[in-house]
Amino acid sequence: MIYLDNAATTLRKPPEVAKAVLEALKRCANPGRGGHAAAVRAGELLWRTRSLAARYFGLEPEQVCFTANATEGLNIALRSLVRPGDRVVLSGLEHNAVTRTLTGLGAELVPVRAPLFDGAAWLEGFDRALGPGTKAAVCLQLSNVFGAVLPVKEIGALCAARGIPFVVDASQSAGLLPVRPGEWGAAFTAMPGHKGLLGPQGTGLLLCRAQPAPLRFGGTGSRSLDQAMPAELPERLEAGTPNVPGVAGLGAGLAWLSRQDPKRLAARERSLLKTAAGGLSALGAELFTGPDQAGVLSFRLPGADPETAAEAYAARGVALRAGLHCAPLAHETAGTLPEGTLRLSVSPLTTREEIEAFLRISRGIVPRFGRKKSTCYLLSNRV
Ligand code: ALA
Repeated sequence: MIYLDNAATTLRKPPEVAKAVLEALKRCANPGRGGHAAAVRAGELLWRTRSLAARYFGLEPEQVCFTANATEGLNIALRSLVRPGDRVVLSGLEHNAVTRTLTGLGAELVPVRAPLFDGAAWLEGFDRALGPGTKAAVCLQLSNVFGAVLPVKEIGALCAARGIPFVVDASQSAGLLPVRPGEWGAAFTAMPGHKGLLGPQGTGLLLCRAQPAPLRFGGTGSRSLDQAMPAELPERLEAGTPNVPGVAGLGAGLAWLSRQDPKRLAARERSLLKTAAGGLSALGAELFTGPDQAGVLSFRLPGADPETAAEAYAARGVALRAGLHCAPLAHETAGTLPEGTLRLSVSPLTTREEIEAFLRISRGIVPRFGRKKSTCYLLSNRV
């Protein structure tokens, strides 16, 4: 399979990830719930992984909380900050993990709109929207649909100057771009373990620089007589038996990334996207691309509904994702509702041969759908 759906999950992982999962399954018991060797081993594994993540993101180990996915982390963050009726400013590219949670909380959603790849315009939009009475701001670092990189450091500075808590969704960027919650002044930064961090599904991290409200209540292996959840992190957020095998795999993914040169990885992924964009453009595809883009390329084939085109690719062994990518707000902002786009996304393990094979297959698919018209939404103005 030519796997180009890494924005949904990185299917191919470094081999040590699966090995670590299996090893933990065989050798780790319940961490913090016993003094025997297998329980202690599990506790040490969690601490090692927490410490590794803390170093990778420039925080203290206690600020790193394990979650089931980015959605859980975002739920914790938003439920800690937002009450019914609160005004919340968010980028117009946010995922349903943010918009459904805020809607469920009864918040007033104030989306910022700007041309997809125009960082200065996003910043200006946030500057205008972060008015009095704003209770929280949410922004992703990298759009899961369009690969647009947003200026979270500068948006964080605007929030800090106005005393507005800032939440960053680093779902698509973690492992690909530098994630520095301390430099952004982010109260909470959420991410999954199974995308760019190369860990297993069912893992995630919430990086906490503010006190969160727990989402889950229960045993933590500590202060058991006290019926309130502990105030200390990470216990406050980690009730119940943790996903030790998952965390073991996530630790192996993080260890692999920590050994790489991040600039080289990012340059390699950029170059693969550029090759894909060049080839698709020659075929008359409609491309959503710009200077500040990473990991993800959205496109549409002339005359083809994205879902139908994705099926044609799948029949030829190419994995893409089509449609709305659980981010209808992003498609509304880009003007790509209701059908959405086709999305190609790479990982550090994607090869140039895969991109070339994808383009060869594209050359066979495009003529089936008819007319040729190349549209490149460089610095897209479709807002
Ligand atoms: N949020 C993931 C995606 O973009 C699953 O495909």
